[in-house]
Amino acid sequence: MTNPYELARVAADELRDHSGVDEYDVAVVLGSGWKEGVVALGEPSSVVSTSSLSGFVAPTVAGHHGEILSIELDGTRIALVAGRVHLYEGNSAHHVVHPVRTVIAAGAKKIVLTNAAGGLDPSVAPGTVVVIRDHLNLTATSPMEGPSPPEGYGSRFVDLSDLYSARLRSIARDVEPALSEGVYVGLRGPNYETPAEIEMVRRLGATLVGMSTVLEAIAARHLEADVLGLSLVTNFAAGVADGPLNHLDVLETGLSASDRLGALLARVLSAL
Ligand code: HPA
Repeated sequence: MTNPYELARVAADELRDHSGVDEYDVAVVLGSGWKEGVVALGEPSSVVSTSSLSGFVAPTVAGHHGEILSIELDGTRIALVAGRVHLYEGNSAHHVVHPVRTVIAAGAKKIVLTNAAGGLDPSVAPGTVVVIRDHLNLTATSPMEGPSPPEGYGSRFVDLSDLYSARLRSIARDVEPALSEGVYVGLRGPNYETPAEIEMVRRLGATLVGMSTVLEAIAARHLEADVLGLSLVTNFAAGVADGPLNHLDVLETGLSASDRLGALLARVLSAL
């Protein structure tokens, strides 16, 4: 197999060819709810199907296909990655982070990772956006696993002391002072957690729970991109509020927040 870094370079060249964008400044990975909000960012100059790019696997979620949209906002060239893939779909960590490695190889030096998350803090209601201050990677894997990165890339023993850029977090909070910060725990899923598991991760310091983001953040940091993480709380995590968790409710909360998410994203991206 081609090494994942070389594969990302090949995909980045294909992306340049198909999109007509020579180099991106910023990339955004769109989670549920966020995807539907990006119409607020304006008309994309191109939409590239990830099925036409090397190394991409197709999302298995019905009705979701992978796409990279190119838009320009106040002179900033932005790649919007729709159709994230997850470990729980049977993908390796390298497949999960391939889109992020590709957009970084295409020039993006800032990566905004968005997601839908369960909330552990009873005072943070569903519908609220929280800035990720730090994470707990409980997926039991890492995109740094495997052979050492080739010559010219940083060590696999990547320092994560400042994974979620303090500078980008402060920009986001200047734009939207009401934003609070939280600690995101990434689990493999796809089942939701038991109340006991939520109590465990709460004691470990988590305030948000989800099934994405952590591997992408590590891969982006390894490639020296600045990372901003934004979670939309779509539900109270298991046992935090009464009642069962339901995937459709999670999607519905995302959908109904999408206008606000798009507007927030537009303002944050203009300030980055
Ligand atoms: N748990 C895990 N992932 C999630 C949740 C949750 O409660 N809500 C949205 N994604």
